[in-house]
Amino acid sequence: MTLLLNKNDVMKVLDMKDCIDVVEKAFAELANGTAVLPLRTGITPPNGVSLYMPAYLKESGALSCKVVTVYKNNPSKYNLPTTIGKVLLQNPETGEVICIMDGGYLTAVRTGAASGVATKFLARENEKQVAGIFGAGVQAKMQLWAICCVRDISKAIVYDISDEAVEKFISEMGAKLKIEIIKANGVDEVLEADIICTASSSATPLFDGKKVKEGTHINGIGSHSPGARELDTETIRRSLFIGDSLEACFNEAGDIMIPLKEKAIKDSHFYAELGEIITGKKAARTNDKTITLFKSNGLAIQDAATAKLVYEKAVASGIGTNVDL
Ligand SMILES: NC(=O)c1ccc[n+]([C@@H]2O[C@H](COP(=O)([O-])OP(=O)(O)OC[C@H]3O[C@@H](n4cnc5c(N)ncnc54)[C@H](O)[C@@H]3O)[C@@H](O)[C@H]2O)c1
Repeated sequence: MTLLLNKNDVMKVLDMKDCIDVVEKAFAELANGTAVLPLRTGITPPNGVSLYMPAYLKESGALSCKVVTVYKNNPSKYNLPTTIGKVLLQNPETGEVICIMDGGYLTAVRTGAASGVATKFLARENEKQVAGIFGAGVQAKMQLWAICCVRDISKAIVYDISDEAVEKFISEMGAKLKIEIIKANGVDEVLEADIICTASSSATPLFDGKKVKEGTHINGIGSHSPGARELDTETIRRSLFIGDSLEACFNEAGDIMIPLKEKAIKDSHFYAELGEIITGKKAARTNDKTITLFKSNGLAIQDAATAKLVYEKAVASGIGTNVDL
């Protein structure tokens, strides 16, 4: 039998705190050599990109493949989300497909969770920190949720080119997280934050890296193609650069590929993979002045770990529909 889980089913069982825990373990497996992670394969139909993302986590016992599409005009043209996906979860012992689940919400939560893990290990630990969020869409909301799980956040400042998106963000996330959330009057106001997340659909830099405060932690999650970036060369140059995966960053992330092409930085500017920080193979922040940067491209290991979590919770709660395919 195969369990089918729709978006509502996934939403009922998937919590950010649990997701941060399993995603942290997945990154540790990557660093310890117990994860199998082929680079994702992409196809580009006219309106967007379709990505095929398989992964296997030996220790966690998670084997999955996600098909995810990113179509930037979906919201305005078709009233559909930018990011749509489905995850197929297998039993690693038998290869049997045990679950097919909606992957849209799962993708957003696991993307938030990766930033949650990075923030937990890299951001300063002061009380009452301010979060700055660029973008007010699906991913941006999850970024703030994740950060609030790992740090004491008293206030968030949000900037988006769409006022409507900001208003929705404030009413939804203010009610969910019970913190003060304000609309930024301009880009520079967001740079006052202690922890910044860039989660927009912009293909060009969002702010001037010269203006980033010392000690800031940045999670850059938006762009993941060689020609697009949310972060300018100065932001990259001034930051201690941690990526989800070296291979993904050097093949997919304009944020680092463009400064490399400009010869503003060398390959060695890539300091560590997140898993190396988690497992202590490389040191995290050593003082309060360093600007730390986590560049997320989104890895299939995050999906595999999260899909297994969702499946187990759904089975335990009797949620979903079993079908004999
Ligand atoms: N790293 C990962 O694992 C991962 C996973 C999923 C999606 N993404 C990426 O995250 C990005 C956001 O995805 P989403 O699903 O939230 O999309 P979305 O359409 O829901 O939200 C994007 C928001 O960015 C805003 N925006 C565009 N240009 C901007 C600018 N210059 N300044 C401020 N805001 C701006 C838009 O108005 C919109 O509200 C996409 O680029 C997507 O490819 C990354």
